[in-house]
Amino acid sequence: MQADDIRSIGVVGGGVMGSGIALAFAGAGYPVVVVDISDEALRDCRRRIEAGRHGLSTVVRNGELARDEADAVAGRISYATDLAALAEADLVVEAVPEDEELKKQVFAAVEAMVKGEAVIATNTSGIALASLVQALDRADRFIGMHWFHPAVSRPLVELVYTPETSPEVLDATAVLLERIGKHPIRVKDMPGTYGFVANRIFYAAIHEAQTIVEAGIATAEDVDTAMKLGYGWPAGPFEMLQRHRDGRE
Ligand SMILES: NC(=O)c1ccc[n+]([C@@H]2O[C@H](COP(=O)([O-])OP(=O)(O)OC[C@H]3O[C@@H](n4cnc5c(N)ncnc54)[C@H](O)[C@@H]3O)[C@@H](O)[C@H]2O)c1
Repeated sequence: MQADDIRSIGVVGGGVMGSGIALAFAGAGYPVVVVDISDEALRDCRRRIEAGRHGLSTVVRNGELARDEADAVAGRISYATDLAALAEADLVVEAVPEDEELKKQVFAAVEAMVKGEAVIATNTSGIALASLVQALDRADRFIGMHWFHPAVSRPLVELVYTPETSPEVLDATAVLLERIGKHPIRVKDMPGTYGFVANRIFYAAIHEAQTIVEAGIATAEDVDTAMKLGYGWPAGPFEMLQRHRDGRE
């Protein structure tokens, strides 16, 4: 398999992340089908894609895309409540809520619907792939694809591989992500841990900063100042956490 073999994308779960992932692929020219559980969920997904804070109307308003180009991007995205709509997908990205059992059910149902050579990717924030892969027959075509919010514009994607992941699948998905303007990093799955690279480091820093403030060692403001002036961080841990929260819809 090569990146050229991936021509059509499926996204399962059109929430905050799924809508951004769909938009990232459609914006780069790929046809995308989003599958969610109800018409209402799909309506919300479409609204997020077309009129949400990180959606097409915003980019048009900011002068980054012409209206007719935005319409063309929107036209590349279709919506379905039936997983049968994934029959033509070469890559399916799962973005349902962070619940191991739910994800496993979804993988088994998706695998039954897709072509044998299709790649199934999970956007789990941190569940070890070693557990999730048990729900699948084709472990070699399963990969972690951890995007960051807002997925349409954040460049980082963590590509997580298990001992069974095919090196071809890892390479092909990495090239695909580069083609759509992302910066993938490769991360080895680590059973018994939660989180991959960026979240583990981010939340470790936040946790330590909160412990310092709770112990009365320094104020939150001074902790932020320490990291900016002492280490040249662009913002302190509390400021980073606030920015992270503000970025959510
Ligand atoms: N929100 C973030 O910042 C963020 C960042 C990176 C990764 N993630 C991960 O991405 C995944 C999705 O998170 P989110 O924030 O987009 O959640 P969300 O709640 O916004 O969206 C989940 C969507 O999945 C749909 N869904 C539920 N069950 C389904 C099923 N059986 N089939 C199809 N669709 C189903 C829901 O209707 C909803 O639209 C989680 O694993 C989360 O940990 C989230």
